[in-house]
Amino acid sequence: MSSSSPDRVVAVVGATGAVGEVLLRVLEQRSFPVSELRALASERSAGSSVRFRGEEHRVEVARPEAFDGADFVFFAATGSLSKELAPEVARRGGIAIDKSSTWRLDPNVPLVVPEINGAAVEKQRGIIACPNCTTIPLAMTLEALRRVAGLRSAVVTTLQAVSGAGLPGLEELAAQQSALHEGRPLPAPSAFAAQIAANVVPVCDAFGDNGYTAEEMKLLHETRKILEMPQLPVTMTCTRVPVPVGHSASVLVETERPLEVAAARAAFAAFEGIELVDDPSRDLAPTPADVVGRDEILVGRVRRDLSGDRLWYWECGDNLRKGAATNAVQIAEEVLRRGLG
Ligand SMILES: NC(=O)c1ccc[n+]([C@@H]2O[C@H](COP(=O)([O-])OP(=O)(O)OC[C@H]3O[C@@H](n4cnc5c(N)ncnc54)[C@H](OP(=O)(O)O)[C@@H]3O)[C@@H](O)[C@H]2O)c1
Repeated sequence: MSSSSPDRVVAVVGATGAVGEVLLRVLEQRSFPVSELRALASERSAGSSVRFRGEEHRVEVARPEAFDGADFVFFAATGSLSKELAPEVARRGGIAIDKSSTWRLDPNVPLVVPEINGAAVEKQRGIIACPNCTTIPLAMTLEALRRVAGLRSAVVTTLQAVSGAGLPGLEELAAQQSALHEGRPLPAPSAFAAQIAANVVPVCDAFGDNGYTAEEMKLLHETRKILEMPQLPVTMTCTRVPVPVGHSASVLVETERPLEVAAARAAFAAFEGIELVDDPSRDLAPTPADVVGRDEILVGRVRRDLSGDRLWYWECGDNLRKGAATNAVQIAEEVLRRGLG
């Protein structure tokens, strides 16, 4: 990998998926310096094409040889594929930026949200992990408050869009909504634990022995790693809602020092990547529809807990952009800015 070359060889593994497609758009929109793009996926879509900067790019099968000479390889496919192939990128001198959960808690792999811990990319050894799509907005909003008042604990309920389960999730919602509309029997759930159309599913993925789901445990452990607060009490319920794009969360937070509502609002407004949308006098609060296609995390409903000193807030973020693709591209930009790639 040559740091003197202005443009980089970039590969996207999972270029045909929900995150991969948005990643291509984000690379275009942010004018990431790409001299060559390699679009990779499985044998299912090999031979099809994706568009990048106005040109069609043939999709090839993701194999180690596809990483020869690659500077950055974005992984937006499956965890098992990242486990197998990300080390192949590192071995060839490139940097793998992984969207799966595979490497996130590995102590040798930085888990990065550039607005919080961009400097962590200095520790990379060829693999950098991108947090879960619910962790990124939660960590950013908690960090905004920590900077002004410290942090003691958080209680979180998420309302997650179906695109968090990729294209199969979007297709399942659409198929069930059509069936409901036309009065046909609903197709059986497959991407989700129960019917998702006209419903709320309080289980995002597999249960663990402690009664929490894998998604919930990711939120806990990833938040602690990013904030470097290994004991931070975070407890959570993750739910799936019939929203195509845009994850939301309701958060009850306890800060170390007293924090007035106005000061909390100011802290959110001042934090890079967060936009405050909070005006009770006009019934103004953010909704997931407001964040679609945007990179900012929108925050509102900031108010005091009626029974104590804690604060409530509500946040929404586009799970495919800041929750996935944009954060991954920002990590690559951080690497370039620091002269590491
Ligand atoms: N969706 C989100 O909001 C979100 C947010 C954060 C992180 N993530 C993570 O990002 C990754 C991608 O998620 P997604 O939502 O984009 O899923 P998706 O829409 O189902 O797309 C999956 C992509 O992976 C490719 N793929 C699957 N198996 C493969 C294999 N064996 N070899 C090569 N390519 C393979 C697929 O290619 P084919 O076309 O060939 O099948 C497709 O391009 C996952 O790790 C997910 O956990 C997703």
